Amino acid sequence: MTDATAYLDALTRVIPDFPEPGILFRDLTPVFADGPALTAVADALVAPFAGGFDVIAGVEARGFALAAAAAARSGHGLLLVRKAGKLPGATLSESYALEYGEATLQVHAGQLPAGTRVLLVDDVLATGGTLGASQRLIERAGWVLAGTAVVLELEGLGGRERLAPREVVALQQG
Ligand code: PRP
Repeated sequence: MTDATAYLDALTRVIPDFPEPGILFRDLTPVFADGPALTAVADALVAPFAGGFDVIAGVEARGFALAAAAAARSGHGLLLVRKAGKLPGATLSESYALEYGEATLQVHAGQLPAGTRVLLVDDVLATGGTLGASQRLIERAGWVLAGTAVVLELEGLGGRERLAPREVVALQQG
């Protein structure tokens, strides 16, 4: 068991019926609020990809916290994958289906040189819609997807299968 796993086991709060009845919500805010835990988790997300990436991308909003911590810890820059309508420059957009409707993510086109190796980080892999759209954005922008890492993979929702053949490293499954 890594330090990160021990911190996640100790600090993740499991909250029933949030944000709606029947959903068992894993709240990572206690992990974010604990310095040694945040450090250990940020380091664990990056460790499998050490030496193989140039910048870390985080997905709005909880992915920002993890990606920023991981970028600062590893001395890399941060790329923001934002929800639609937040970025002021020329953007690329990718949409994905939600249970009701769809969502769109964007990056700044030309933010990084072509061929930049991007490590993609988020908190949770559920259906894979968010990370799939983020991966497509990175590749359409001309960057190289160096890897994808999440804190928690929710099994049984098809996320890993949806992202295949691209691999995902998850610190925990639940
Ligand atoms: C949550 C979570 C992941 C995504 C996972 O984000 O932070 O990004 O859902 O779900 P998926 O694999 O089914 O796409 P949410 O859209 O709730 O945004 P938030 O981080 O702003 O709360």
